[in-house]
Amino acid sequence: MIKLAVFASGSGSNFQAIVDAQKNGTLLGEVALLVCNKPSAKVIARAKREGIPSVVVQPSDYAFKTGYEQAIVDKLVEYECEFLVLAGYMRLIGPTLLKRYEGKIVNIHPSLLPSFPGLDAIGQALDKGVKVTGVTVHFVDSGMDTGPIIAQKAVTIEEGDTRQGVQEKIQRVEHILYPQTINEILTKHAKEVPIHE
Ligand code: GRF
Repeated sequence: MIKLAVFASGSGSNFQAIVDAQKNGTLLGEVALLVCNKPSAKVIARAKREGIPSVVVQPSDYAFKTGYEQAIVDKLVEYECEFLVLAGYMRLIGPTLLKRYEGKIVNIHPSLLPSFPGLDAIGQALDKGVKVTGVTVHFVDSGMDTGPIIAQKAVTIEEGDTRQGVQEKIQRVEHILYPQTINEILTKHAKEVPIHE
């Protein structure tokens, strides 16, 4: 089974949804490692609870992004991770990771891209007064939320919806869409990779 690394910086509810899919036998990969850039992130406790190894790599410990990302690559190699799943990872992926894992990094974003890329996508949608927003899963390239779109699901914003209410609706959709989409990509990926005997 292909080994995944989940990258996260915060609460990790998407990490949890992916691990839950693994626990109930519906995930076509194995979450082999959590990569986190913040020692205080809640997601680390989740990984511990679930018995999933985690590594905290802090950008401030490195003079250059290359060194920071090489330290992550070293861990990914150690844990034999072949596919990277960004789930609330609040850093741009640089050339070191991109080159090594080209076409094998996905991200989830809480808007219908290309609308509202970047920080606080839900706030941006509310400020514009849109009636429909949503969730996008996309491949990662060097831009900010710009890579090829894989899957999208709409979420309606009703009159009187609070910010928290919209966020909850979006996260409910994310927790279903992300494991499903990861499975679709892994299925496709497996068909493309020749089987060595
Ligand atoms: C999600 O809404 C995701 O779309 C965005 O960051 C948030 C992470 O939430 N990229 P969580 O840490 O998975 O709860």
